[in-house]
Amino acid sequence: MAILITGGAGFIGSHTCVALLEADYDIVVVDNFSNSEPEALRRVMEITGKSFKVYAFDLLNEKDLETVFIENHIEAVIHFAGLKAVGESVAIPLSYYQNNITSTVILCEVMKKFNVKNLVFSSSATVYGIPEQNPISEDANLWAMNPYGRTKLMIEEILRDLYQSDQSWSIALLRYFNPIGAHESGMIGENPQGTPNNIMPYVTQVAIGKLRELKVFGNNYPTIDGTGVRDYIHVVDLAHGHLMALEKICGQTGIEAYNLGTGKGYSVLELISTFEKISGVKIPYRIVERRPGDSAVSFADPSKAERELGWAAKKGLAEMCADSWRWQSKNPKGYEELKGMKALL
Ligand code: UD1
Repeated sequence: MAILITGGAGFIGSHTCVALLEADYDIVVVDNFSNSEPEALRRVMEITGKSFKVYAFDLLNEKDLETVFIENHIEAVIHFAGLKAVGESVAIPLSYYQNNITSTVILCEVMKKFNVKNLVFSSSATVYGIPEQNPISEDANLWAMNPYGRTKLMIEEILRDLYQSDQSWSIALLRYFNPIGAHESGMIGENPQGTPNNIMPYVTQVAIGKLRELKVFGNNYPTIDGTGVRDYIHVVDLAHGHLMALEKICGQTGIEAYNLGTGKGYSVLELISTFEKISGVKIPYRIVERRPGDSAVSFADPSKAERELGWAAKKGLAEMCADSWRWQSKNPKGYEELKGMKALL
């Protein structure tokens, strides 16, 4: 029995591979490597000392996906694969609908065909839009600000419809807050292509001198120091949340959404000063206009995940900064492609 991980070479996917392997699960990874590197998976194998099958194709290829289910005894799927850049989703919405929504529908079709009905879906706190209140609980109003957010929201709705039509499915919708940090080995971490959109990779790239200064998007929000407040969560804690969700859904049926956050919010300036203290590197920054679509404050009420999954985040902001910095300083250019990896595919 194996767990299929789509998008397993990505930031959260690769850390989840480690968590599952360390918990003695067999895994199979499908990734099209459009925004990730096979090297990430080689390093997952090095960290865990375990090997697993890797299929390099796009989920839109239904026949290839069927082959995975024919060749392996898949028990459950953790579905990460998808596009995730907000700005890009506004520029090329059809790619987002095709890549995120169509591929999820195809995945569910194939799962149904092979009678595999356990699914953990990688959703996002973006489904809360600009939250009306904090902490945000799972029953808050849902709405999306952009095509990326709409894909997450629509997929949640599609999966609810699917469950309504066939109550033998078991589905967890995991709504991530702001994942940062990296595996404590410094071997795997976030590897954005081009200029990062999210704050932590931007900060670490300023710290190694790749970028000149951080632009802080607004300092006139109604927050502790005027800058945006977010619920940063260590990616290793997040990965562990997937393991707990997987264990919960295998052996029961239903569909439930869970916030995966720490329940604590930190401002941009608090993040910068914690990073500076931990790394000993000064981060030059400049206050600029607010970024359209940003909310002032967003942090989770994670109590449902604690109650129902037995999961709670353990790592604090200092550890998140230390691990992000270790990853970036050990890998100033991110992953370097390994030619030998092709043999694995
Ligand atoms: C962003 C996306 C969200 C997505 C999430 C995870 C937007 C509007 N939201 O969330 O849909 O689910 O990433 O990929 O893009 N900041 C700066 N300077 C920067 C970058 C960020 O000041 O260069 C600030 C932001 O204003 C915010 C905080 O840092 O207050 C966190 O930003 P970011 O890492 O982009 O995450 P979110 O905006 O929460």
